[in-house]
Amino acid sequence: MAHYDTLSLTVDDDRIAQLTLDRPEALNALNSAMMAEFAAALVEATQSGARALILTGKGRAFAAGADIAEMRDRTFGSMSDANHLALWERLADLPIPTIGAINGFALGGGCEIAMMCDILIAGESASFGLPEITLGIIPGIGGTQRLTRIVGKAQAMDLILTGRRIDADEARRLGLISRVVVDGEVVEQAQVIARQIAGSSARAVRAAKECVLRADQSSLSEGLLFERRWFHSLFAFDDQTEGMTAFLEKRPARFADA
Ligand code: CAA
Repeated sequence: MAHYDTLSLTVDDDRIAQLTLDRPEALNALNSAMMAEFAAALVEATQSGARALILTGKGRAFAAGADIAEMRDRTFGSMSDANHLALWERLADLPIPTIGAINGFALGGGCEIAMMCDILIAGESASFGLPEITLGIIPGIGGTQRLTRIVGKAQAMDLILTGRRIDADEARRLGLISRVVVDGEVVEQAQVIARQIAGSSARAVRAAKECVLRADQSSLSEGLLFERRWFHSLFAFDDQTEGMTAFLEKRPARFADA
């Protein structure tokens, strides 16, 4: 693995990648250096053959948002010419499943990159919010779009226009995250989920991820057709025969690349 200054990347023997944001002194605030390293680390994780990626933060935050100190003196020109913040979006395009393990504050840009993950779990004392409005700006890494699609207009307006923070329980009730776990066990629980996914057919996992994501981007009829085409396609691969044979023989399936 390459050396990074603002994050760390590991890939274990089960091919589970873990990317840890590592600027705890600034609550993992997202700066330009981290954004460039993040994009490079995603490429490295994918090229390593990782089957799933866990994203977490070191210390008491997942990430407390874009780096305010770095942003304060920026101008419209410097933001738009460099298309500032665009590289974070690479996370949403990753073909392998991503699991956000939220260990503390997930605010502003931190909440926004969390929402790009496929599965989100959080420790009991984690908190979420989009406080950009209090800084005279708005969310800039997809918050107004993703939060609205996830929780609906009423809740999104409430959170974005007030900038208020919510705790992990409320985040789960709203459907922003799927599980709340004991503080200190967030990464461990994410690893359990990642291993479960890594033991399945990689093709089926990829198909499932693509289909679920398609639900946000297509009409129901287009989404249903997309799903059915993928469903039919999976019968072209050995994983389908192995999965069904294993069920009938009452034994665990052994997928070729798991
Ligand atoms: N940018 C830069 N530095 C940050 C930061 C951020 N987003 N969040 C925290 N820090 C720094 C603090 O400045 C502080 O540094 P010093 O020790 O050098 O003073 C250190 O991290 C610890 O933070 P606090 O002392 O503030 O810790 P706290 O426990 O009292 O409060 C907090 C924690 C509530 C998360 C508070 O730090 C906070 O409100 N942070 C900012 C949250 C925010 O507004 N995020 C949105 C940013 S804008 C954005 O993200 C735009 C976008 O859509 C891309």
